Amino acid sequence: MAAQDLIRTKKIGFLGVGNLGQAVLRGFLDSGLVLPKNVLISSRTERKLAKVAEEFNVQAVKTNEELIDGSDVVIIGVKPQDLYLAIEPIASSFHEDHVVMSLAAGISLESLEELMPDVKKILRVMPNTAANVKKSVVAYSASDACSPHLNWIEELLSTIGVVVPVEDGDMMEALVVAASSGIGFVYELMIYWQEWLEERGIDRETAKLVTVNVFAGASAMASSAPNTSFEELQRKVTSLKGVTAAGLDSMRELEIERALRISFEKAALRDKSLGDSWLKSN
Ligand SMILES: NC(=O)c1ccc[n+]([C@@H]2O[C@H](COP(=O)([O-])OP(=O)(O)OC[C@H]3O[C@@H](n4cnc5c(N)ncnc54)[C@H](OP(=O)(O)O)[C@@H]3O)[C@@H](O)[C@H]2O)c1
Repeated sequence: MAAQDLIRTKKIGFLGVGNLGQAVLRGFLDSGLVLPKNVLISSRTERKLAKVAEEFNVQAVKTNEELIDGSDVVIIGVKPQDLYLAIEPIASSFHEDHVVMSLAAGISLESLEELMPDVKKILRVMPNTAANVKKSVVAYSASDACSPHLNWIEELLSTIGVVVPVEDGDMMEALVVAASSGIGFVYELMIYWQEWLEERGIDRETAKLVTVNVFAGASAMASSAPNTSFEELQRKVTSLKGVTAAGLDSMRELEIERALRISFEKAALRDKSLGDSWLKSN
């Protein structure tokens, strides 16, 4: 069966529908690949559950067990610190036909396998909040048993952005930092861009519009030229001894690259320590 037809046969359960869970759900539904009638959701608080069910026109269920029973694919969208408490008491509700995807940051594939020993097809999926606009980077690592199913799984995940399969461990950590936290890092640069324009008398709204379009323009050009390196694209906008060259010379003298590298490494250390503390507390 074609991947899209296969997805249409699946019941998909969202265990926890917070910010990220809702972004993923929206992407799935907007794609038309997943029909609202095939989606179940559960949450901790009843009020939130009813609100999300009404907004997305999907079925709310009272317990996580009921959700697992009624789903072929279970997407776990609870915070890392809530994961153990949410899953450990009901781990035996899973069976080997389930496909389980965890969105929890810092929790390794190995820990997920230990927590849900009956699940064979298990994935650690790491989108970012750009899932809301279907521009997420969706990194994932999967257990070996997922291999025959990756075609439809990737098709499903591609409804929220660009899918990047990686090994769990260092590669996944790199994606957590550069892609998930990366959104926040890019905003840090955008804040500075906007402020500098405002200092030069440009009104706030225009300064934001200009900033957004500079980043979007650079991204769109790079995206439309996949075989052209960033260095080459940069050379094309830099004439010898010109304005861009003066700014770039200064950036290099100030070692912006070194500052960014240190910040990325600090974030990676934090990711490691969060994963470690989760393991120690359970
Ligand atoms: N936000 C990001 O950019 C991002 C990026 C990548 C990965 N992640 C990961 O995505 C996960 C969710 O993050 P978030 O920002 O979406 O958090 P969130 O908004 O707090 O959502 C978590 C949801 O889980 C529900 N929940 C907690 N315990 C539950 C239980 N026992 N049973 C059922 N539902 C339960 C909560 O329900 P109530 O509200 O009803 O209590 C809440 O709706 C986290 O693991 C995070 O690491 C987030």
